[in-house]
Amino acid sequence: MVLEGAISRLIFLACKLFLLMKIIQITDLHIANEGEDTFGVDVRQNFLDVLNTAKSYAPGFVVLSGDICFNTGELHIYQWVKSQLDFAGLPYAVIGGNHDDSKMIAAVFQAGHLLTGGDLYYKRHIGNNPVLFLETSKGIVSDEQLAWLQKELSQIKHDAVIFMHHPPVIGGVPHMDINYPLQNMAAVQEVFFNFPHHISVFCGHYHVEKVLCKRNLTVHITPSTYFQMDWHAERFSVDHLRPGFREISIRPDGVVDSTVVYLEGNKIDA
Ligand SMILES: [Fe+2]
Repeated sequence: MVLEGAISRLIFLACKLFLLMKIIQITDLHIANEGEDTFGVDVRQNFLDVLNTAKSYAPGFVVLSGDICFNTGELHIYQWVKSQLDFAGLPYAVIGGNHDDSKMIAAVFQAGHLLTGGDLYYKRHIGNNPVLFLETSKGIVSDEQLAWLQKELSQIKHDAVIFMHHPPVIGGVPHMDINYPLQNMAAVQEVFFNFPHHISVFCGHYHVEKVLCKRNLTVHITPSTYFQMDWHAERFSVDHLRPGFREISIRPDGVVDSTVVYLEGNKIDA
């Protein structure tokens, strides 16, 4: 009897382990043109180091959650990032940030079929999980996308997992909350709050590491691979230059846990 119990427990644990999906979230790369002033940070090497380290974690999936380009969307930068991702040999998904051009991303990453009215938002199954990817590159979630989000959430019967560039809550980072928040946060929250289960949101944009909870939402803000912001400061101030990424584990029921990992940053040789 005791042995049978132990065996079923082992099988249960093995199933849980087998069904666990590991995702690496990389955000706010801000890849610049060669020779562009990045305040001394080697943004390309930071991204490559993060990608290589991420690969050593043997994830099942990688998500780039926006601000791929330094300032504005540039075709050759997306092409370079795509070549690095393809070389890494891991399945991946990409969404745009406020420094991106989603139509350009869709063109380079062969995702034109996922564009709706110029916006790049979509559902993708990662393992057994339906994961939603939202478009906020214009700082807003369009009405059309909100209707889509509501419909997609209504089909999910357990906890949900969402990636988006902008946090859908006030982040407690004065410089970002005042100047660059998600503009229609209340409308987005209303859709989220009407969902009867828990939602784990993974975003970037704020260049900080934070986890915020509001009603059925847990919002994970993931640090940038470029620089991190001092969220205690009233005005823009850099906290540190260690690039970070997030390791996320999700189960088929949508339950999530995650950890942030930092690396040493790279400076451009003077
Ligand atoms: Fe950014």
